[in-house]
Parts: sequence; C-alpha cells; structure tokens
Amino acid sequence: MVDKQLAWQTARVLACTEVADGIRRIDLAPDHPVPAKPGTHVDVGVHLPDGRTDTRSYSVVGASKTGDRIAISIYRTPTSRGGSEFMHGVQPGDELKVTAPVQDFPLRIGAPAYVLVAGGVGITAIRGMASVLKRLGASYELHYVGTSVARMAYREELRAVHGDRLVEHITEEHGRMSVAELIVGLPAAAELYMCGPIRLMEEIRRTWERSDRDITALRYETFGNSGWFEAEPFEVVVPQYNVTVEVQPTESMLEALERAGVDMMFDCRRGECGLCEVRIVELDGQVDHRDVFYSERQKAPNSKMCGCVSRVIAGTGSRSADTGTAHAAADRHTGRCARVVVEVS
Ligand code: FES
Repeated sequence: MVDKQLAWQTARVLACTEVADGIRRIDLAPDHPVPAKPGTHVDVGVHLPDGRTDTRSYSVVGASKTGDRIAISIYRTPTSRGGSEFMHGVQPGDELKVTAPVQDFPLRIGAPAYVLVAGGVGITAIRGMASVLKRLGASYELHYVGTSVARMAYREELRAVHGDRLVEHITEEHGRMSVAELIVGLPAAAELYMCGPIRLMEEIRRTWERSDRDITALRYETFGNSGWFEAEPFEVVVPQYNVTVEVQPTESMLEALERAGVDMMFDCRRGECGLCEVRIVELDGQVDHRDVFYSERQKAPNSKMCGCVSRVIAGTGSRSADTGTAHAAADRHTGRCARVVVEVS
C-alpha cells in the first residue's frame, strides 16, 4: 500500500459560513501553521455515517500570511459518500484532524498569458491563483462556470477584484460554455489551469489535445467524484484474492476492495495519479471513467480503470461529447447488477 506520509495535526473550527447554495466555507486554526500557497489543499479526517473514518481533500481557498487561519469550502454533494455531509455538520469550536497544506497544483510564475477555468466549487482552487496573477500584473483571464448565480461561491468578490478579467458562464442563463471557442481564442503560449467537474475538465482536455498546444501548459486539479452516469451498485471480482464484493453507490471500488482486505496501491484517490489502476479481465456493463489520468485513447478499450473514482454501470450507456449528457440504453434498469473481473498490481 502506498500512502502519503503526511503529518496530521488538530485544527479548531473558527467559523462556518454559507457562501453559495450548498457550499459552506470553514475557517480553521491549525495547531502548527505554515503558509499555504495558491493551489494547495489540505486532507481532512471525516467521520462517515457507518462509523468509519476517511479522508477528504479540500483546496485552500484563503489563508492568512502565516497560515494560522486557513479556509476551505465544501460543496454538499447530492450523492455524498458521507464526507461532505460531515463537513456541513461541523460547528465553530469543533476540532478536526487535518494535514499541513499539500501542493499538487502549483502556479508557474512567468508564463506570457494565463487562463484560469473554475467549474462550480472548483473556484476554491483557482481563487488564490487569480489573486496572485492580479498582484503580479500578469496577463490572465478567469473563466467561472456555474449552473446558476446562487451556486457560484465568491462571485461578488471576484467581480469586484477582477473586473473584466472575470468571464462568467452561467449555464441557466446562457447555456453551456463553448470549450472549443475558449481554446481557439487563447494566445499561443497561454497556460491553462482548471479545477471543476470531471466532465468539464475532460472536454477541455480533449479539445486541448486535439489542438497543437503544448500539453504541459494544461494543468488541473480534480474532485474525482462526478461521472457521466449516476452511481449504481456493481460487483467486482478479484480472482487472485478470491474476493467478490459489491461496490455501493456511496463508496468507490478502491474503498470496497480495501474493505474486503485487498491490498491496493493508491496515492491521490482523486483520479489523477493512476496508482490505483486495475486491469479489466471481464466486463458485464460499461465503465464510467471518472479519472483524468488516462487519455481518451487509453480509456476507449476499457482494459483498465482507476479504482478510486471510476465505476461500472449496467447496460450500454452512451455519452455525447457535444452536449456533455449521458444516455443509457433501456436495459439498464433490469435489476441486474453490472460486474467486472479485475487484476490488481
Ligand atoms: S489513487 Fe490516484 S488515480 Fe486513483
């Protein structure tokens, strides 16, 4: 098993504030403060309804200079596996177990132009970067994608700070953002930083890959929890461990296999590093790839998947790259569970 050797500490909850529909900001005072740069996140220990404890990662959305006060923001996921429910229940004065800020999404200073794209609560990872770029006098645009104004956290503040550098894409008012137009209109040497739902980031990544742009100029952080299809239970079989386990909609395949005693490798648990890869030996259903580790070409044959985020659905779903919507064939709801046989490293 691979795990991050992170130093855990206690952090006291200073304040809890609703910053948009379903999004809550929590200000924390860690016992051992260190400065938190833009792009950092903290891992937080959460208590789940079934009594287990688990870890969730949240971007640092704001911090004091010394890091003695850091803020995170949490979207209450409708299909919460328990983490966001827990975080929406904490109160000022409570104590949480947290790590020091971890940097997996650094902002490279010195690019000729920047484009920042935030989808929904992904603004938490992008907000600090935009502030730094403004302070440096850099050439940048901040694209903020939200379904409605009510669900766009920090919107008024961003409008005041960034003025016409902020480009809003409010789906309820203007329809979906045109990713093709966004990419075509960028300066040749622009770097793009994005954080948001997997579907949005997949579309941007595909469009970026099809263009002649440098792939290293595309940088992102994921939430790793939003797929193309509704999560449903499925069965996973690991012959080498003689294990068969049903993966519940509220847990990942990785968690289900760990629960069954399979020694799994992992690192990010967000679909970014590929360490949790399993090889697919047999598949009855369709893989809902929710990672950003594999390219489209690697995903197409359904020969491997990232167990920390990707799932299997029954039947033969299809998805539209143009509309971003998912369709499922009529045989999906026959009551038959999807099934996948895998090999693990
Ligand atoms: S643990 Fe990193 S992709 Fe699954």
